Amino acid sequence: MGAGGRLAGKKALITGGAGGIGRTIAAHFLKEGAAVMLSDLDGSRAAEAADGLAGAGAVHACQHDVTDESSWSGALAQTVSALGGLNVLVNNAGIWVAGSVEDVTPETWRKGMSVNLDSVYLGTRLALPYLRESQPASIINISSIAGLIAGPNLAAYNAAKAGVWMLTKSTALHAARGGNNIRCNSIHPYFIDTPLLQDVFARGGERKELNDDQRGKLASHAPLGRLCTVDDVAHAALYLASDESGYMTGSEIKLDGGFSAQ
Ligand SMILES: NC(=O)c1ccc[n+]([C@@H]2O[C@H](COP(=O)([O-])OP(=O)(O)OC[C@H]3O[C@@H](n4cnc5c(N)ncnc54)[C@H](O)[C@@H]3O)[C@@H](O)[C@H]2O)c1
Repeated sequence: MGAGGRLAGKKALITGGAGGIGRTIAAHFLKEGAAVMLSDLDGSRAAEAADGLAGAGAVHACQHDVTDESSWSGALAQTVSALGGLNVLVNNAGIWVAGSVEDVTPETWRKGMSVNLDSVYLGTRLALPYLRESQPASIINISSIAGLIAGPNLAAYNAAKAGVWMLTKSTALHAARGGNNIRCNSIHPYFIDTPLLQDVFARGGERKELNDDQRGKLASHAPLGRLCTVDDVAHAALYLASDESGYMTGSEIKLDGGFSAQ
């Protein structure tokens, strides 16, 4: 922690910050000297997460619906006011959406696209004016290995996460062409044991902890023989947020234990 960390002076907004990945990214960012705003649809869980991290550095929380343009304006204004600027945006909020192209109803499709893809468009568009004021800056989009590899029962999730992948590249080119030092990259993890993964197995019912058999089956599909972890994602996000990744933009980091190399 402290002034000399890898993210000293960085001011970061992390969406979906009450969730498994978001709060772990926040913990790593704080440890390396960043100031952090955790935003989430569930404002009280975001506040709890921030309270839990308060000993680690300057951390704030706000309620924020990433599907809503005015909610984005409010969250960004709160962030800039609390942190004194914004130079790292982590578009992390997301939901699991199951179903084949025939199973997914138009309503479910629209919800999946709205939370997983429209959110990144809205946030990027509205954050860019603030990021320009605090360069060098970095936008980190949490996509998925499902944004690069399809499954028959993942129509809406595949489409949204692939959209995030390509939107990342378009954003990177746009920012660079404008002469800005604002980079934009995506992260593509394999399965991670967070509440979202419980939704994968809940199949419309109640969330419950995965059992060893379910974990083992998923792990066995990755050549490294284990699931991805929240810390794996946070380490990649830390690199992308820091100036160490200063020559990396419009690119992607696959955290899939070798899955896509097969
Ligand atoms: N867990 C995995 O296996 C996995 C794998 C690859 C990618 N991802 C991606 O990582 C990201 C984080 O997922 P996680 O595993 O931490 O899940 P999670 O369910 O633990 O956290 C997601 C958070 O997003 C919030 N959220 C949902 N809708 C929102 C909205 N409209 N506005 C604001 N916040 C909203 C939820 O309240 C929750 O706190 C997601 O984009 C997900 O698609 C997850």
